[in-house]
Amino acid sequence: MKQVSGFSKLSKLEKIDWLKTQLPHAYTLNVLQDYWLADRATQKLIEEFSENTIGNFILPYGVAPNFLLDGEMFAVPFVIEESSVVAASAKSAKFWLSRGGFKTKKLTTLKNGQVHFFYHGDKSELEEQFLNNKESLFNSVAELSNNMEKRGGGIKSIELKDMTAELPNYFQLYATFETCDAMGANFINSILEELGNQISHWDHTEVNMCILSNFTPECKVEVEVSCPIDSLKGVAKNVEAKDFAYKFKQAVDIAQADIRRAVTHNKGIFNGIDAVILATGNDFRAIEACGHAYAARDGSYRGLTTCDISEGEFSFKIDIPLALGTVGGLTTLHPMAKVSLEMLGNPNAQTLMKIVAAAGLAQNFGALRSLVTTGIQQGHMKMHLLNILNQLNASKEEIKRAKEYFNERTVSFSGVRDFLAKTDTLH
Ligand code: MEV
Repeated sequence: MKQVSGFSKLSKLEKIDWLKTQLPHAYTLNVLQDYWLADRATQKLIEEFSENTIGNFILPYGVAPNFLLDGEMFAVPFVIEESSVVAASAKSAKFWLSRGGFKTKKLTTLKNGQVHFFYHGDKSELEEQFLNNKESLFNSVAELSNNMEKRGGGIKSIELKDMTAELPNYFQLYATFETCDAMGANFINSILEELGNQISHWDHTEVNMCILSNFTPECKVEVEVSCPIDSLKGVAKNVEAKDFAYKFKQAVDIAQADIRRAVTHNKGIFNGIDAVILATGNDFRAIEACGHAYAARDGSYRGLTTCDISEGEFSFKIDIPLALGTVGGLTTLHPMAKVSLEMLGNPNAQTLMKIVAAAGLAQNFGALRSLVTTGIQQGHMKMHLLNILNQLNASKEEIKRAKEYFNERTVSFSGVRDFLAKTDTLH
């Protein structure tokens, strides 16, 4: 591939033509057109979300129904390519539906951001300057905060933080925000930049950057499922309820004890969380970054769920920061995000936080239920069977027969290939 300049200035077709001159199998790019939307206005809208856009990348959009959350029913949209995720979530949601459903235990919504700066003077003078100017700092951003305040939010606090134990001369203006139903990144960053602008005029002060923090442990939700241990009856074939509860808790505890298991455990949780976040037009990178940092908040990386068994009661809980929005940004612009939010009853940000946490908990419950009983591969490979069959160009009839054949057998790529070869020679 050659270096190119002015690529961003080329039209979409010119970009594709240039790429074609660089590829040995240029015709493969023809497929791009198959994924352009017939509705040109929507296609343009999608292209303008990003830069140098030449097409759309399709992912499956699925629904897991039967989520009972705080007494309300939801059908939850998932955008994910991994075959077993929606099925596992739907199965967990159905299981908990008859056992009281998902319940919110705690929810907080405060976000934060920092003006990072260096101060090359006497610390006590800085502290005095800060105290003397605190009110004028608030005044300087009053106009920016005004609209959000009308909605019940706004900038809530500004503190001076001494960070010199971490880095010489390093201080922060540490501000907190309530952003209501918006994710609020633009709101927070605009205010921080104005605060940075204000203090850049202070003596000995060198502002480095002004940016929100995606670490939001004060914007988090705890969602739980619980039932008497006996009510776990039927959770898996040939397993006693109390044995299941015991093994399940062990599995959750292992993710508290070992980083190697914890990362995989949390990956499973994010299978559910990211899928709903994508479907609703939220920023899954921010949520992932924060979730993993939160998982390591005591210095060791641990699972984001906990399980408790006491006095005959089984409870399973997720505790996770989720800085989400349901207005503004992609949530308002992306046609499919609008569909998702409509499907969820146009929730406010707090309700979306609960739904997303429930999806993560459901996903984790489904994964652990399989892991401590049948193992993960049985269900996973069953769901993957169709992918393998499609990869091997199986016909409709072959797919039907393969599904019957593998219903009670272990699925593997070579097993499916051999099955198709055998049925081929039989016909
Ligand atoms: C696979 O995508 C996710 C799991 O590995 C999660 C887990 O092990 O808990 C099944």
